[in-house]
Amino acid sequence: MRNPKLHPLVEEVLVDHKQIKRRIKVLAAEIGNFYRKQKVKENTVVIVALLKGAVPFLAEFINHFDYEMEMNYLVVSSYFGGSKANSTPKITLDMTENLKGRHVLVMDDVVDSGQSLELVKKHLLNKGAKDVRFATLVDKPTRRKSTIKIDWSGFVIEDKFLIGFGLDYEERLRNLPYIATTNMEKLKDWKW
Ligand code: IMP
Ligand code: MG
Repeated sequence: MRNPKLHPLVEEVLVDHKQIKRRIKVLAAEIGNFYRKQKVKENTVVIVALLKGAVPFLAEFINHFDYEMEMNYLVVSSYFGGSKANSTPKITLDMTENLKGRHVLVMDDVVDSGQSLELVKKHLLNKGAKDVRFATLVDKPTRRKSTIKIDWSGFVIEDKFLIGFGLDYEERLRNLPYIATTNMEKLKDWKW
């Protein structure tokens, strides 16, 4: 029987809340260890989280990230609603901080084609970042259209439209505490 607490648009929970938390804790330790071994300016990494999807990932991550950090944000839009990617992502809200010589860790909910992250990488290098690394909660490698290297990812999932833990459908459902597939039939004529 289906868990009665699941959102009615959920088809299948792929990763539950406990698994997400456990994995993020491991990632935070790995990434902390990685930067401890690098020569990082002032031993501080600049986290740049991509709004809005990275918020739940970031919030959980910083509870466990045992390394000096600053937090910053960019808004990148590639999806204008719906579940089909718009092919040209844009930075719709920029940050003002100087990144000269800084080590940057970009965090996002999911990498799909990789085009958004490629744009973000160029943008941050233009701002003077010394290096830019990527941590995504989910990696969907099957639709990649870019050679961008994802340094750390939480879960590799095949090409399915996902909701929850930051992942949205038309801006909704980011607040689900798990990562799930959607019931597309129901979604088509769903009344919110
Ligand atoms: P990319 O530029 O194709 O890698 O797209 C990345 C962006 O597309 C992510 O930051 C998400 O906003 C969105 N996206 C990709 N796959 C999904 C999904 O399965 N559910 C919700 N949003 C997605
Ligand atoms: Mg996103």
